[in-house]
Amino acid sequence: MPRKVVSGPDCDDDYDDYDEYDDDYDEYDDTRYGNDQHPVQKEKESLKKSSTMVPVHWTCSMCTFNNHESMTYCEMCGVFHETFVKSAKNGSLKDAVGAASSEPRASAAPKTDSAKTAMKTRGVHSDNDSARKHASTPCDKANSTQLPSAGSSLSAGKKKKTPVVSEEIPVERTALLVPNHFQLKNDRSGGASSSLQNDYVTQKLSSDISQLNVDKNNVNVTKPCLPEEYKPEKWMLADQESGVLSQLNLAIVGHVDSGKSTLSGRLLHLLGRISRKDMHKNEKESKEKGKGSFAFAWAMDESSEERERGVTMTVGVAYMETKKYRVVLLDSPGHKDFVPNMISGATQADAAILVVDASTGSFEAGMDGEGGKSVGQTKEHAQLIRSFGVEQLVVAVNKMDAVAYSKERFEFIKLQLGSFLRSCNFKDSAITWIPLSAVENQNLIKPPSDACLTSWYQGFCLLDAIDSLQLPSRDVTKPLILPICDVIKSQSTGQLAAFGKLETGAIQNGSKVLVLPCGVEATVKNIERDTNSCSVARAGDNVAVSLQGIDGNQLIPGGVLCHPGFPVAVANRLELKILVLDIAIPILVGSQVEFHIHHVKEAARVTKIIALLDKTGKPSKSAPRFLNSKQNAVVQVALDGAVCVQEFSKSRALGRAYLRSSGRTIAVGVVNRVIGQDEN
Ligand code: GTP
Ligand code: MG
Repeated sequence: MPRKVVSGPDCDDDYDDYDEYDDDYDEYDDTRYGNDQHPVQKEKESLKKSSTMVPVHWTCSMCTFNNHESMTYCEMCGVFHETFVKSAKNGSLKDAVGAASSEPRASAAPKTDSAKTAMKTRGVHSDNDSARKHASTPCDKANSTQLPSAGSSLSAGKKKKTPVVSEEIPVERTALLVPNHFQLKNDRSGGASSSLQNDYVTQKLSSDISQLNVDKNNVNVTKPCLPEEYKPEKWMLADQESGVLSQLNLAIVGHVDSGKSTLSGRLLHLLGRISRKDMHKNEKESKEKGKGSFAFAWAMDESSEERERGVTMTVGVAYMETKKYRVVLLDSPGHKDFVPNMISGATQADAAILVVDASTGSFEAGMDGEGGKSVGQTKEHAQLIRSFGVEQLVVAVNKMDAVAYSKERFEFIKLQLGSFLRSCNFKDSAITWIPLSAVENQNLIKPPSDACLTSWYQGFCLLDAIDSLQLPSRDVTKPLILPICDVIKSQSTGQLAAFGKLETGAIQNGSKVLVLPCGVEATVKNIERDTNSCSVARAGDNVAVSLQGIDGNQLIPGGVLCHPGFPVAVANRLELKILVLDIAIPILVGSQVEFHIHHVKEAARVTKIIALLDKTGKPSKSAPRFLNSKQNAVVQVALDGAVCVQEFSKSRALGRAYLRSSGRTIAVGVVNRVIGQDEN
């Protein structure tokens, strides 16, 4: 059984060693010593041989088995030889051992099966303990199915078939799996002889365990460490370099055609990030194609398909600077067909701009879909972005020019959308409402000039609102986790580079990283931030990382770069805590769903509905037959392929999940427990 990846406070090292020891005991005898016998077994055989040659026996008073004279106890039933017991009672145990045998103490101590039993007996306690943990702790399950650690030879893209994970074993059943005779022998080994036996057992056990560790080293399995064992290095904790602004990952989200790309392009242009030449080219070409109104959007929508359709399809990434931040703009697609892409990109957000189209009918479509019969992407994106952990929101009420900068329309939108955002757990104090027009350049980087707007609005312009956002805390003190959002060609090295946001930890050139799921260890060769090379990247930074020691094709979006000593889990069976969104068809056991987590999407099936949860998060009904809108529940899912994942309590970025079906997000949730990896 391989040593597993997920480690946590519940998985103490001892437990794992004992667990491994017990499970593999028989195999251990054979494999560790090859065809040679275990030393204790050898002794037993040699005793048998010598007893054939010189048959000197004592007969057990309990079972009448003839034992060799050197045995202090019955080989068959474990009862001690009379002489031994008498001497023990007299307090001269050593003498008794000497009297019983002229051989050294080790050979007089329980041997063969009994020695094994004694170790097992000790193991019974540990085993029971461990079994309890096994039955109750999530990480054990994950452990049983983890990827190979660093140095293992899983090839890229291939889904590793690992042993099937057994169903959760209840504590009582686990205890029954421990052979009864071990417990009985344990009982018999009490009394005067127990300390001698225990001595022997303790020595033997620790030497066996250390031997097991040596064997592990021989097969080059890196032992994953407990998160609390991680000690960040000094350079990781260093203060922000002077003169370098902090990076803010800002997702631009909202319903299709609300003007997200136009707003992003306009901002970039106003802040000098688009050259006059490029802007002129975009204006000319978009006009020629009859898409003149998309000139600014073309700064973000670069593919010919996006430009032809006038629809963003993948998340566009651009950089700009404000007084306070180096902003990474993540321009999401608003069309409902591309919500999976929106999830993949916007999941990196520290904060978001929700763009709303103020024009008559368009705001309404964003809320309740075309014809008011479904959920528009204003609502869906807001819900998703909140479930990504984003707390701060700027609502850009765009296209105010189309409603003559009407205060009433703005207030109406604020009222309607405001109450929905509250229902998604956004705090009023964390939302900034900005009326603006991207096309007419009103209220973007400076106060508006239009008299209609200035007559009733004196608040922040968009740029000031961005600067008023607070950076979320960055966890540099934890081991590295960098979920790969995309694999791009590095501008400085020309090589394929892993692109994504460092969720925790830090890297510098020369750092060793473990690439999952392929399990290859590589070295950081170059780091690019905002297209410029830099030597260090810390939690929160969005970077492109070129690696040495790995094939470009082993880097895949949805993979994760992590610290080799602290690998994340890879699993396809998970327990989730979910909130069901507005759905038309109830969720049942067996429902097929699309499972989304950080930058991956996998086909999945709901395998269990464990319980409904009440508002306080406590189970209110176990095993309900189906789930309906707005219900909270704990469910289990089986994914077609394994994904890099962590329990939410261990990593927020790798522990948030979304279920979609028929092109709609049907539930948002968190990973409650990593069960393991199973062959589907
Ligand atoms: P998707 O990415 O496909 O969801 O669309 P989007 O939200 O990025 O919208 P996009 O920027 O592509 O703009 C859609 C249309 O809205 C274009 O024709 C823009 O010219 C128009 N538009 C954008 N901003 C404004 C505005 O402030 N006023 C008016 N009147 N039209 C605007
Ligand atoms: Mg767009």
